Amino acid sequence: MPAKKPLKKAVLPVAGLGTRFLPATKVMAKEMLPVVDKPLIQYAVEEARAAGIEQFCFVTGRGKVMLVDQFDVAVELERTLTERGKQKELDMLHAQALPPGSIITTRQQVPLGLGHAIWCARAFIADDPFAILLPDDLMQCEVSCTRQLADAYNETGGNVVAVEEVPREIVNRYGVIDPGATTGNLVEVKGLVEKPPIEKAPSNLTVIGRYVLMPEVIGHLSKMERGAGNEIQLTDSMAKLIGSQPFHGVLYQGRRFDCGDKAGYLEAQVAFALARPDMAPAMREILKRHA
Ligand code: G1P
Repeated sequence: MPAKKPLKKAVLPVAGLGTRFLPATKVMAKEMLPVVDKPLIQYAVEEARAAGIEQFCFVTGRGKVMLVDQFDVAVELERTLTERGKQKELDMLHAQALPPGSIITTRQQVPLGLGHAIWCARAFIADDPFAILLPDDLMQCEVSCTRQLADAYNETGGNVVAVEEVPREIVNRYGVIDPGATTGNLVEVKGLVEKPPIEKAPSNLTVIGRYVLMPEVIGHLSKMERGAGNEIQLTDSMAKLIGSQPFHGVLYQGRRFDCGDKAGYLEAQVAFALARPDMAPAMREILKRHA
């Protein structure tokens, strides 16, 4: 069934403390960590915009104001760049500017889990379908990963999550789907479980940090039921939509880097540098020196 409402909204949960990256994240938000020369938050926003998203809600916490500043006009900086004739840098800043009013923020006052973070954005979501992007999951895709989900949403008119196959030994780190029939890159989702013990996992198809959900998920989140790790899990509320609404996994095309993890973050630096014509030769030399 084709989608009834266009997908224009995205929620970005960015309240996490980033304790795995201390001391880098003592003062700075973890979503400001750069990969080559761009912060993680900006990769996420650009990916969403490439999918037609126009309205953003950052679910923030204390000390996260710089995430909004990143998308503001930097008046002093632009004046200095103009005075110095740095047109290339100015053009780059202008190209990435968002129209006024594109970002709103809400605060998750206490860290009660991803489901709770999404519930904090309920007034923004209202009655509309919405995307979720977890900026820690950095995607390298020819077609924006959120665009791939948006296409699947437009086709199915229901909930879609990006999924990938992982080795069985690590399924307990993720949300895992119980897969039904597969058509092309779409897998029917018959069940969802958050961080199951390996022996109880219904498959090795895991949910990554990209979703398009229907607003009805908020009703389930409102019950504030605790799940894995005693947190209010998004996965548990998503599972409750199965049966009453279409629910599919999208076997997305591309690669994911877990930038919440130090090794994943370092690998992202290498992969993104190698994908950039201006950086690839230097990075190849570096890799040769350290082989
Ligand atoms: C969250 C979700 C999980 C998902 C993962 C993807 O877990 O709860 O279902 O598989 O993101 O990155 P977290 O990494 O926050 O523990």
